[in-house]
Amino acid sequence: MIIKNIVNKKIWEQSGYLAPEYESGIKMDANENPFVLEEPLKKKLFSEMRKVSLNRYPEAGALKLRERFAKYFGVKKDMIMLGNGSDELIQLLCMTLKGKIGGVMVPVPTFSMYKIIAINTGNRILEIPLDENFDLDVKAMTGKMKSNYPALIFLSYPNSPTGNLFSRSRIEALIKKTPGIVVIDEAYAAFSNASLMPLLKKYDNLVFLKTLSKAGMAAIRLGFLIGNKNLIAELDKVRLPYNINWLSQVAASFYLDNQREFSAQIAKIIKNREELYLQMKKIDGITLYPSRANFIFFSCAFDSYRIYDKLASAGVIVKNLDSRLTRNCIRVTVGNRRENAVFLSALKSAIS
Ligand SMILES: Cc1ncc(COP(=O)(O)O)c(C=O)c1O
Repeated sequence: MIIKNIVNKKIWEQSGYLAPEYESGIKMDANENPFVLEEPLKKKLFSEMRKVSLNRYPEAGALKLRERFAKYFGVKKDMIMLGNGSDELIQLLCMTLKGKIGGVMVPVPTFSMYKIIAINTGNRILEIPLDENFDLDVKAMTGKMKSNYPALIFLSYPNSPTGNLFSRSRIEALIKKTPGIVVIDEAYAAFSNASLMPLLKKYDNLVFLKTLSKAGMAAIRLGFLIGNKNLIAELDKVRLPYNINWLSQVAASFYLDNQREFSAQIAKIIKNREELYLQMKKIDGITLYPSRANFIFFSCAFDSYRIYDKLASAGVIVKNLDSRLTRNCIRVTVGNRRENAVFLSALKSAIS
């Protein structure tokens, strides 16, 4: 059988999301939290996990957890939905809203999974470059809307990989103009001290995405969609029944029970980001962009593939984001103090 003949053309044509696995080295490519749990806390978590009956399905819909997180985010429980990472929720949105008015609009550059998921679920993708300050080009976006009604517009706030917050007035202009839904992805909000969640009271075509992945729990895959309860009721028809496994449900409860620990880690990451930024600023040959997230985006005066390879051979893995709009750009995740020091010294020698 010739697989090419039966696979969807749009899927065949793409290379898919590349998440390389490295056996060793310092991982500064995926915007994870660099801190591990202290042993006593780990023990506490694992003793909770021991109680799970592995022969049983998890609670369908994870209702108790959903209720706890509704309280945590300050919304009613029918306004929140849990996903196997926010990636799954992006997929649910793209599947459920496909077809009626069609099309997924994204600024570029942004989180690459919006486009990949949109295409894989059979949606048309409308990509609009950000302006020279990495802010939204509202004129170009609304201009495109006239002939291509997007069902969904994905906005990452702060944006990945650029690290900035789009201006609120431009976001609101899009919410008002679009015939569809605006999705504000606050995966990195904890590092920015900013959230647009209060806008939920003002608009009903707005939903939010949140995740535990950047807060120290990437392994458990838990994301949240928050917003219009009528939309959530429709998404819930598409959601697979047991999408949040028991072990993740236990770990997510543990996260809520140990907020102080996780908040302290976030504060440390913000402090490390500021220190790392100041140190990187002293290096000639790179241009830094201010960051409100847990990573720093920079462009190199040289070939970023060469810099990437040199960093990798020094044991530091970053994300090379060279593209037409982001020439020779690299994104580095803020690490712990030791990791940042190793990265800085490797970057200096890669550039000299
Ligand atoms: C903007 C943005 N949204 C969502 C995600 C994915 O989140 P999750 O791990 O919950 O699927 C990422 C991951 O890097 C991201 O950068």
